[in-house]
Amino acid sequence: MDCHVISIFPEMFSAITEHGVIGRAIKQNVLSLTIHNPRDHADDKHSKVDGRPFGGGPGMVMMPEPMSKVIEAAKTAASSDAKVVYLSPQGKRFDHSAAIEFAKRDSVVLLAGRYEGIDERVLESHVDEEWSIGDYVLSGGELPAMVMIDAIARLLPDSLGNSESAEQDSFVQGLLDCPHYTKPRSFVDQFGDEKEVPDVLLSGDHQAIEQWRQQQALGRTWLRRPELLKELELTDEQHRLLDEYKSSNNLDDTSFEQ
Ligand SMILES: C[S@@+](CC[C@H](N)C(=O)[O-])C[C@H]1O[C@@H](n2cnc3c(N)ncnc32)[C@H](O)[C@@H]1O
Repeated sequence: MDCHVISIFPEMFSAITEHGVIGRAIKQNVLSLTIHNPRDHADDKHSKVDGRPFGGGPGMVMMPEPMSKVIEAAKTAASSDAKVVYLSPQGKRFDHSAAIEFAKRDSVVLLAGRYEGIDERVLESHVDEEWSIGDYVLSGGELPAMVMIDAIARLLPDSLGNSESAEQDSFVQGLLDCPHYTKPRSFVDQFGDEKEVPDVLLSGDHQAIEQWRQQQALGRTWLRRPELLKELELTDEQHRLLDEYKSSNNLDDTSFEQ
């Protein structure tokens, strides 16, 4: 995937390009990331890209000339069908299914705003889509762009090694992930309580382990995100596992507000 980001803080992106899964995806050419700085398209000698808002009020607004020029430059560098995506708290909510759709694209231009945002005329004439990462306001679009790139890159073929497969991850099968454990087998917590790894995970019985994981994923989803279960058509076996989870934990549908 050929990803172009427009930002006045290009150095922020080293947080993802130099580490972990994304860093490796870039090294292996699964993902390419190019940052375009609006300041390179400013007319004045101070590389100014923001101005006072018409009508008064606090804050600054990103100016139309450098912003439209940098978007054109990014579109020219990206493939011709690349959509211009503005990161905005007013956009459509980004989630797992949106990440799947983005992962199918060959290229994208992500536009990170700052200050009070970008002059509305640029958004009207240059932006194809607006996406939000949640109902809160951040100081800039860089973190949302990185959040989206990370979520998308994990879904690109060959970006994760076998040991990091996304198959079991939350939302991939419509459920939350099961709990995970590693060494030591027995761990004493801060209250002095000795906590053991569930026996089944030490049994070597792969079928029983798979069934336990499936049951935990169903149970957790039922407890924490019941609305996700309503989107799924559970098999008879999954219903049985979920009922068993509820009865072994002394829970039923009246145990909490769904
Ligand atoms: C301080 S915000 C501007 C918020 C804008 N005045 C509003 O209330 O809709 C500056 C920039 O951060 C980015 N941003 C802030 N919150 C975001 C969110 N939840 N999702 C995506 N982008 C966000 C956008 O690019 C925005 O232009």
